[in-house]
Amino acid sequence: NFYAIFNICSAGDHFISASTIYGGTYNLFAVTLKKLGIEVTFVDQDAPAEEIKKAFRPNTKALFAETVSNPAMNVLDIEKFAEIAHSEGVPLIVDNTFPTPINCRPFEWGADIVVHSTTKYMDGHAAALGGAIVDSGNFDWEAYADKYPGLTQPDESYHGLTYTKAFGKGAYITKAVVQLMRDLGSAQSPQNSFLLNIGLETLHLRMPRHCENALKAAEYLESRPEVAWVNYPGLEGNKYYELAQKYMPNGTCGVMTFGLKGGRNASIKFMDNLGLIAIVTHVADARSCILHPASHTHRQLSDQQLIEAGVAPDLIRLSVGIENAEDIINDIEQALG
Ligand SMILES: Cc1ncc(COP(=O)(O)O)c(C=O)c1O
Repeated sequence: NFYAIFNICSAGDHFISASTIYGGTYNLFAVTLKKLGIEVTFVDQDAPAEEIKKAFRPNTKALFAETVSNPAMNVLDIEKFAEIAHSEGVPLIVDNTFPTPINCRPFEWGADIVVHSTTKYMDGHAAALGGAIVDSGNFDWEAYADKYPGLTQPDESYHGLTYTKAFGKGAYITKAVVQLMRDLGSAQSPQNSFLLNIGLETLHLRMPRHCENALKAAEYLESRPEVAWVNYPGLEGNKYYELAQKYMPNGTCGVMTFGLKGGRNASIKFMDNLGLIAIVTHVADARSCILHPASHTHRQLSDQQLIEAGVAPDLIRLSVGIENAEDIINDIEQALG
C-alpha cells in the first residue's frame, strides 16, 4: 500500500481513502505518510458520490479503498468509487486482499490498480510475508501529465527516462519496480516467493471452501441465542449482501465478525474454551483463526476507550479456514457452552 501511493504522491500531495480500512494501513496513511508530507482525507465509503467528491482538492492524486474491509466487512461499491475517481481525474486503487482475484476482479468494475497483502489467502499458510501491486495499465497518466510528473517527466535517477513514453501502459508498475524497489528494497526473498507460489497453486480450490465454511459458520452463529449479532456479507439481510452479490457472486471470503450477548467477559470465556480455532492476530489463513481485540490486541483499553477506538468490546473476528465445517461448528458450539 505504501508503494502504491508513494509511486504517484510526494510531499505536498494529497489522496483520499475510505475510513474503514485495516488499522495498519490507516496508520500508514494517517501518521507515516503525513511525516513525508503526504496528506490523506478519510471518507465514509457508503456516502453518496457527491459527498465524497467534496473531499477532492487540486493536489489530490488517488482514491483508495478495500474491496472488503478488515475488520468492518464493508463491501465497496467499486463502480461508484471508479466513477468518482475518474470524474476527478485520479486512479482508483483498491486493496483486494480479502476476496482475492478468485472472488473479485476489480479491474472489470473500473479499478485502475489493485494491491494485495499476499501474507493472507494468497500464501494461505502464514509461511511468507509479502505484498503485490497489480496495474491494469488503464489509467491515462498522460491525460493528467501535470498531476503526475513522476511518470510523465524525465526521471533523473534513471538516465532521464520518462516512464509513460518508454513503457506506455506499463509506466506505473515499471516505476514502482525500477525506482521504488531499487531505492527502498522490499523485494521478496527467493524462498518466500517460492512459498507464495505454492500457495497460489491452490488458491482457486481454497477460496470456495472458505466461503462455503464461513457461510455455514455464520448461519450457525446467527441461530444461537448467545450471539448478539453476526456481520458477514454472505448472509441475507446483511447491509452489504446486495453489493456482495453484485461484485462477488461466488462469495466474499472466510472472515466475519460477531458479538456475544454477555459482552467482553462472555467473549473472553468463549475464546478460552476454543480448541480447534486458534487465537492469533493473523487472518485469512487456511486454518481457522480468531481474534477478540478487547482481550488481546486492545486489552489495555477500557470499554469506553474501545468504543472511541471504533472497536466494540464484544467484537470477535473469526477467520474461517478450510477444515471440515462440522469440526469448526462443533468447536464454536462447545465454546459457547
Ligand atoms: C486488507 C489488508 N491489507 C493489508 C494488510 C497488511 O498486510 P501485511 O501484514 O502483509 O503487510 C492487511 C493485514 O492484515 C490487510 O488485512
